[in-house]
Amino acid sequence: MHKDVESILFTQEQIAARVKELGRAIREEYAGKELVMVCVLKGACVFFADLLRAAEVPAEIDFMAVSSYGFGAQSSGHVNIIKDISAPVAGRHVLLVEDIIDSGNSLYALKELFGKRGAASVKICAFLDKKARRTAKVEADYVGYAIEDAFVVGYGLDYAEKYRELPYIGILKREVYEK
Ligand code: IMP
Ligand code: MG
Repeated sequence: MHKDVESILFTQEQIAARVKELGRAIREEYAGKELVMVCVLKGACVFFADLLRAAEVPAEIDFMAVSSYGFGAQSSGHVNIIKDISAPVAGRHVLLVEDIIDSGNSLYALKELFGKRGAASVKICAFLDKKARRTAKVEADYVGYAIEDAFVVGYGLDYAEKYRELPYIGILKREVYEK
């Protein structure tokens, strides 16, 4: 275990098993539909690649980057688009893939945006859900695991651009982000 990690929340094996189930659900929903899977960078990239293969359903993939966090551990409450997708979405089904839904600000804004662009449907798949911290009116349609309010890293999730490479999801020691 990494020295900055207090405890492991989900092991590599638990993650893989849950991703497989999510993939199956997504395959059932989108089989025969025109699907665009949008990865919300950077945190979701690891989950996205796993989910894409677990779903095994034809999809165009694209990437979007938004910022609401900066380098802190608290959401700043507004969202900037840093990188937009290039795939056309009008009349197509969009699945937004996120690592974690926290305040919900970023996904709320993205859902609105894709709705305005004329997507046939816009759904959200988030690997983790910190329900207790939600302030925006948005829910994920697919969730890997609901978690308590703790700052987690690994499996793509970072703190100040670190720890994304960890194959498990762990709780970051408080002293790391409170010093
Ligand atoms: P929201 O807009 O507040 O829902 O923020 C969601 C984004 O905040 C996620 O995509 C993550 O990048 C980041 N985030 C929220 N909680 C955590 C955490 O515990 N660890 C790492 N990143 C987090
Ligand atoms: Mg993110």
